[in-house]
Amino acid sequence: SQRSLVLLKPDAVRRGLIGEIIGRIERKAGWTIAALELRELDQDTLEQHYGEHKGKPFYEPLMGFMQSGPVVVMVVEGERVIEGLRTLAGPTDPIAAAPGSIRGDFGTIVRENLIHASDSEESALRELKIFFPGLV
Ligand code: GTP
Ligand code: MG
Repeated sequence: SQRSLVLLKPDAVRRGLIGEIIGRIERKAGWTIAALELRELDQDTLEQHYGEHKGKPFYEPLMGFMQSGPVVVMVVEGERVIEGLRTLAGPTDPIAAAPGSIRGDFGTIVRENLIHASDSEESALRELKIFFPGLV
């Protein structure tokens, strides 16, 4: 089975949506939460995580937003969990995300789109090492 690195972003925590979002993940057949922690992320961790976006116009505001409050850092394990979590989250722009997806149900702002989930097996391995170096 696969593992994915999931972040519930500061907007999700502030708005009291942790339970709602974790509930949707928990209800997927055979998926389990392998690690979970509430954490404030520092600049160094975020630069490693979002390094691919450095230099883009949304990068600096994204860094600020991700440090605006605590996030839930999770490892989710299970059958096809990487693709499955991207489907559960919906597309990056919440207005383009279908109702029924997390971003489609709760989001309106591109930056404040509630959740991160690894976009490939390669990204998942890279991100798991950043957030849970002891686990991999
Ligand atoms: P993550 O799971 O957070 O990585 O989102 P993603 O994979 O759906 O999108 P991507 O990696 O392309 O971008 C990372 C994050 O930067 C997004 O989740 C948004 O919060 C933000 N972002 C991406 N593109 C834009 C944009 O065009 N405008 C703004 N304001 N924010 C953006
Ligand atoms: Mg991404």
